Amino acid sequence: MEVIIARPDELARLAACAYEQLLRGHPDAVLGLATGSSPLAVYDELVRRYAEEGLSFARAKAFNLDEYVGLPVGHPQRYLNVIAHDFTGRVDFAPGAVQGPDGLADDLAAACTAYEDAIISAGGVDLQIMGIGADGHIAFNEPGSSLASRTRIKTLTEQTRADNARFFGGDINKVPQHCLTQGLATVMQARHIVLVATGRAKADAVHQLVEGPVSAMWPGTILQHHPHVTVLVDNAAAGRLQLADYFRNTYAGKPAWQGL
Ligand code: F6R
Repeated sequence: MEVIIARPDELARLAACAYEQLLRGHPDAVLGLATGSSPLAVYDELVRRYAEEGLSFARAKAFNLDEYVGLPVGHPQRYLNVIAHDFTGRVDFAPGAVQGPDGLADDLAAACTAYEDAIISAGGVDLQIMGIGADGHIAFNEPGSSLASRTRIKTLTEQTRADNARFFGGDINKVPQHCLTQGLATVMQARHIVLVATGRAKADAVHQLVEGPVSAMWPGTILQHHPHVTVLVDNAAAGRLQLADYFRNTYAGKPAWQGL
């Protein structure tokens, strides 16, 4: 696990460089995408590189981490719509190239299995970007999630619904109670995972993620078992890291050729 502590604009540049390097070498790469505020600056930087530097997503495929259950097709907070608004609709993905779990399926369990199959048929996710919740959730794997979980239906915690109420006019009652989410074992199959966390509210979760014991109570800690994870954090989110000085020194001496 590589931990980089830097300014938010530098973090966005680093993550965008990882995407660009992948796509320039493998234009048909499979990208893992997340909604939420953490990746927004990365998406903006990728859109800039698309508009100004010819970076293309035309042959790529993308898979979202999660989706609310029951939000109508046109609902602005449906995650397929959110990701189109924030990123995929601003670049040149082919129609149908961006997928998410089907939160409107009659048979939600079958939709989860179909989503796992779709990721495998595409060849698996090459590069997954993600955020982390203040309670340590990744995707919508809330505390207590099985470390071996696959795409499935989950009940959101009050905390996550309260956190996300800002996207529903501040009304927690409008935030769905259920979601479909890639499981922790699903996420772990991505070949490279880049996790972005900024702000003091994430400091505990980042400390646990990097330095805590692996535990279902802090689901992100499963990433300690992944061979290629990059954790990008600003000073505030790094505020509880015991190894912060080590990570700063390491990054200061990181060879320019190394990449993420
Ligand atoms: C979103 C997702 C969530 C968010 C997490 C952090 O697709 O899977 O795990 O990454 O809730 O959200 P932000 O980035 O808004 O703090």
